[in-house]
Amino acid sequence: MEERLRELEAEARAALAGVENLEALEQVRVRFLGKKGLLTQVLRSINTLPARERPRVGRLANELRVRLEEELADRAAAIKAQDLERRLREERIDVTLPGATLLVGRRHPLMRVLEEIEDIFIGLGFHVVEGPEVELDYYNFEALNIPPDHPARDMQDSFYVSDRVLLRTHTSPVQVRTMERMAPRLPVKIIAPGKVYRRDDDATHSPMFHQVEGLAVDRRITMADLRGVLQVFAEQMFGPDTKTRFRPSYFPFTEPSAEVDVSCVMCGGRGCRTCSHTGWLEILGCGMVHPRVLEMSGYNSGEVTGFAFGMGVERVTMLKYGIDDLRLLFDNDMRFLRQF
Ligand code: DAH
Repeated sequence: MEERLRELEAEARAALAGVENLEALEQVRVRFLGKKGLLTQVLRSINTLPARERPRVGRLANELRVRLEEELADRAAAIKAQDLERRLREERIDVTLPGATLLVGRRHPLMRVLEEIEDIFIGLGFHVVEGPEVELDYYNFEALNIPPDHPARDMQDSFYVSDRVLLRTHTSPVQVRTMERMAPRLPVKIIAPGKVYRRDDDATHSPMFHQVEGLAVDRRITMADLRGVLQVFAEQMFGPDTKTRFRPSYFPFTEPSAEVDVSCVMCGGRGCRTCSHTGWLEILGCGMVHPRVLEMSGYNSGEVTGFAFGMGVERVTMLKYGIDDLRLLFDNDMRFLRQF
């Protein structure tokens, strides 16, 4: 048995001498010290020896096991050190290789246009204010002179939260909230951008979209002021040659009311597909604030007048960039968004 141990030690040392990598080292370990390893077998068979030989042979075998384990550990450390040395010598970082591209976000076209609209009106002396998207029926309809049987209140058009609470269908309620807060101070000159909600969903309607409301209240505000402000807006938004025209219309909260067209941004007014060969594109609704709305909001309609307008940000964006499907603005497809 002692002889066998000496043989094993010689064998193991010979095997270790030829080892050059960790896999080969592991094979040596398994061969001698594994569950069915050669030395393991010897250790297991010690109990077959005569009792008086057992302690001595056991001690020798165990000592050999410890020596081999130490040897294996030393070799492993040496091999790892060598590997590291080699990699430090051989591997180079090529700083000229292109790096991993980081996806850099950018402004959504709608938000860019919204900011442009804000900048134009700030330049004209307007303040930017906001109002709640979950709104009281009173502000969304009643205080805007929209009676209970008006079609705009139809459940078809609105998302109701309860009998008296709904998602605002336009930004016009911010007119009322602002006047209530300001009255009787003058002048009021605000725009109110934000999200609005209607039960609509197709190529030109989204259940959520954006509007910018405008309101100016002061002594002697006239429709000429409204026309001037909107003309400046149209020129700054769509280019210096842009023309505007007012068509009579109806809104419960303005009197008189108008819809405003700009000369077609695609063809300059000659007529094309975008403007259905009319040369004009509708961009907003507006009018002189109805006296009843002024009164309900705390202003004396005998003393002050006002104008108001409301435009759709999606529509302005689509016209400005020639986008033909509204849904592109909400799909979040990078191939589309990267173009702005
Ligand atoms: N609130 C109207 C809508 O959503 C748009 C509008 C029309 C706003 C005329 C106004 C206005 O302030 O004077 O259709």
